[in-house]
Amino acid sequence: METVETVSVMISEERLLARVREMAEQITADFAGCDELKLVCILKGSVFFTTELAKRINLPIKLDFMSVSSYGDDMESSGRVRIVKDLDETIRGQNVIVVEDIVDSGRTLAFLLEMLRSRQPETLRLCTLLDKPSRRVTDVKVDYTGFEIPDEFVVGFGLDYAQKYRALPFIGKLSITDCGEDE
Ligand code: IMP
Ligand code: MG
Repeated sequence: METVETVSVMISEERLLARVREMAEQITADFAGCDELKLVCILKGSVFFTTELAKRINLPIKLDFMSVSSYGDDMESSGRVRIVKDLDETIRGQNVIVVEDIVDSGRTLAFLLEMLRSRQPETLRLCTLLDKPSRRVTDVKVDYTGFEIPDEFVVGFGLDYAQKYRALPFIGKLSITDCGEDE
């Protein structure tokens, strides 16, 4: 079956960046006086959000990156998470914020946060650009949320569908429609 993919704007670039600024101000206020804050960017989806956020936090920032793959198809995570790339440095005794693109079922984050907590950071918080609360299967405490969105599959600003659409500057709703039989 042939399919056609269409993307319609859900959250404009302007709204995204305005909200990222607010989140950065909140984080700056919450960690005022703290001599260093480590942002843990979860590759690849969070790269765009992390850089925009980091630029707007008025505190000394360190960045580290982690890549996890949750076995599953393109649109659903299974919760069985494999670490593809671990952090380069220790987080022990540090103030850490995990930066995610989207919390959906919560399975990936639940696994990840438990693993990071076992490494004994001073504080560990979770910041996500998007949240689909109606899809939650595993309870996850989110400290900073950009936007709550309905149960739609979204792409752009780092989020992908089969590795496509990450570089769109806005968040778009992806629709996939069948358009007839293959030969
Ligand atoms: P969870 O474990 O179900 O919370 O899955 C979270 C991960 O699933 C995110 O980091 C994304 O990689 C992916 N994901 C969930 N919903 C979407 C979506 O609407 N668009 C793109 N990726 C998504
Ligand atoms: Mg992801």
